[in-house]
Amino acid sequence: MSTLLEVGGVKISRDDVVRENDPTNNVPDSIFSKIGLQLHRRDNHPLGILKQEIYSYFDNNFPGLFNKFDNLCPVVSVKMNFDDVLVPHDHVSRTYNDTYYINAETVLRCHTSAHQAELLREGHSYFLVTGDVYRRDSVDSTHYPVFHQMEGFRVFTPVDWEASGVDGTSYAAMDLKKTLEGLAQHLFGNVEMRWVDAYFPFTDPSFELEIYFQGNWMEVLGCGVTEQKILINNGRTGSTAWAFGLGLERLAMVLFDIPDIRLFWSSDLRFTSQFSSGQLGVKFKPFSKFPPCYKDISFWISESFTENNFCEVVRGIAGDLAEQVSLIDSFTNKKGMTSHCYRITYRSMERSLTDEEINQLQGRVRDEVENKLNVTIR
Ligand code: DAH
Repeated sequence: MSTLLEVGGVKISRDDVVRENDPTNNVPDSIFSKIGLQLHRRDNHPLGILKQEIYSYFDNNFPGLFNKFDNLCPVVSVKMNFDDVLVPHDHVSRTYNDTYYINAETVLRCHTSAHQAELLREGHSYFLVTGDVYRRDSVDSTHYPVFHQMEGFRVFTPVDWEASGVDGTSYAAMDLKKTLEGLAQHLFGNVEMRWVDAYFPFTDPSFELEIYFQGNWMEVLGCGVTEQKILINNGRTGSTAWAFGLGLERLAMVLFDIPDIRLFWSSDLRFTSQFSSGQLGVKFKPFSKFPPCYKDISFWISESFTENNFCEVVRGIAGDLAEQVSLIDSFTNKKGMTSHCYRITYRSMERSLTDEEINQLQGRVRDEVENKLNVTIR
C-alpha cells in the first residue's frame, strides 16, 4: 500500500507524488519523505522558536492585525507558484532542473509567495504564511532541498495614505521599511542595516535587507511593493501592498550558531534537547565533529547532465551523510568531450562512519550515476 499523508486537510499519496517512469515528474522518495514533517510547527525546534518570535513582533506592534497560516499544503499548482505571482515563462525557477514537479501542472512550492493570490482572493489583507519549500540545488552546509520560509503581506487602501501627503506606492514602501527594520532589530538587537535594490517578479520597487553581522553584510530577506497586476487580478483594485519573504534556516543558523543546515532535520537528542520554546538565540553547543571522508568521482558528461541531477543522486543514496558535493576539476578534450570530477564529502553529525559503509555508498553512487545520468565513468 502506498504511504498516505495529510497536510493542511489535503491527502497526499506517495504514488501520486513519486512516479519514476513519468517524465513530467521529478520528485524522489528522499523528498517525499520530508512532506508533512513541518519543522516550523515544532515549539521546541529552532525554526518553530524563530517563527514564534516573528509572530510576537507582529502581534506586539499590530495587535490582532495579521492572520497567520502555517499549515498550507506544499503541493500547489504551477499557476499558484508561478503565474499568479507573475514569474516570467522563461524564468529559470520554472525549469525541471530547479523545481520539483509532480506533473506538468503541479509542483512542490518553491516559495511561500505561492499563497499570495489565493489568500487575497479569500479576502485576507494582512497575513504571515510559514511553510516548507522545495528546491533542487547543490549540496553544502547552507543548502538543503527542503527549507522553510515566511511570507508577509499587507494591503493598504486610499484612507491609509491620503492624509500622509505621499502616493500609495511610496506609503507602502515607507511602511515596509519601517516594519522590517523593526523586525530585524527585534531578532538581532541593535545591528547596522542597509537596503539594497533588488528584482523580484512580484514587486516593484524591490529591496533586500542586509544586516552587518560578525564582520559580514548578510542578506536577511527580500521584499517590495506588490505589483498592481497581482492586486487587480485578485480583487484589490485601488489598493497598494507590501510583501516580504524570508528564509528561516538562514536566520536560525546565525541566531542559534547552527553550523550545518542538515542539523535542523536531526532527531538526535543531543541536538533537539538544546532548544526550548521562547528561547531565541541560545547558542548551539556542537556535541562533536566526526571526521569527514572524501571520495572523488570522475566522468564524461553528456549534454543533458546538470549538477543538480548529480547532487540528487548523491542525496538519494547517502541522505544526510552527504555534507558537500563540489566540482574540483573540469576539462574538455580534443574530441570535445567534457570531464567533471566531483569530490563528495561524507560525514555524519551523529557518529563515526566506517570505511566499508562509505565505500558501499560510493559504489552505489557510481552505479546510479552511470545508469541514470547518461554519463561515462572514467
Ligand atoms: N519569494 C522570494 C524567494 O523565494 C522571496 C520574496 C521576495 C518574497 C520578495 C516576497 C517578496 O514576498 O516581496 O526568493
